[in-house]
Amino acid sequence: MPESNVDSAKAPYLPKTSPCEKARIGHAVAVLSGKGGVGKSFTTCYLAVLLSRMGKKVAILDADITGPSIPRAFGVKGPVVGAGAYFYPVSSKAGVQVMSSNLLLPHPDDPIVWRGPMLSTLIEQFYSEVVWDCDYLLIDMPPGTADVTLTIFQKIPLSSAILVGTPQGLVDMIVEKSAKMAELLSIPLLSLVENMAYVQCPDCGRRIDIYGKPDFSLTKRHGIPVFEEVPFDEKIAQAMDAGEIEAFEGNYLGRTAQAIVDAAEASEALKR
Ligand SMILES: Nc1ncnc2c1ncn2[C@@H]1O[C@H](COP(=O)(O)OP(=O)(O)O)[C@@H](O)[C@H]1O
Ligand SMILES: [Mg+2]
Repeated sequence: MPESNVDSAKAPYLPKTSPCEKARIGHAVAVLSGKGGVGKSFTTCYLAVLLSRMGKKVAILDADITGPSIPRAFGVKGPVVGAGAYFYPVSSKAGVQVMSSNLLLPHPDDPIVWRGPMLSTLIEQFYSEVVWDCDYLLIDMPPGTADVTLTIFQKIPLSSAILVGTPQGLVDMIVEKSAKMAELLSIPLLSLVENMAYVQCPDCGRRIDIYGKPDFSLTKRHGIPVFEEVPFDEKIAQAMDAGEIEAFEGNYLGRTAQAIVDAAEASEALKR
């Protein structure tokens, strides 16, 4: 049992947003951290790739409106096609559906300079006005626990969430805030991914723990069943930058992808 003392009964309740009638969304899974630069977007992209390789229909809602990374990592570009009140996601080479603020901009390096409520409105539109057709909708979250994060947690019916961090004390503290927020809003946390957890010496293969030993305490405090480490791997950064994440082959995040599928199948079995 989690040791945390967060009381989900005190969480503010808002009615959920629905997908449009043409859309099919199996399970929405948030990838979050609280902290920026720890690898949320990489984790989202590679989980999408792994789930897609498992034969699932996968989509990504890029909720980091001011720092969108997903189109670049998959090498996809706009324009987004609309029909009436709806618009369609852009498909990657392997068929992962993507919606991102960067697909709507004339130039990918144009900034979006908006206040929180406008960002939150766009996120709701990304969920409810896009014609998704997927078994899994992965949501690449922005850093922090404010506006957009709160909108997603309160208005999108999430099946579960994946936490991403790096093994540093300061990062842990901020990741813990996200873990507590998920608990407060009763979203099950399936896995803690410790990214950039170590470096493997290219000559002797020795593991170098540059930030110290792995720390499982967060998983215990919040009852998170899976703990996975991903090392610093220059091929990850290269694949993300080159728009080639779908061609990347790394023996990472397999247990997290499996945990997402297992949780989804267990909840479907309960409904039957
Ligand atoms: N395990 C890793 N090894 C090497 N580079 C990584 C790794 N994980 C992520 N990166 C790179 O680090 C940068 C930040 O990762 P990103 O996924 O964008 O973080 P976030 O979404 O949390 O801000 C990106 O350039 C990404 O390609
Ligand atoms: Mg990101």
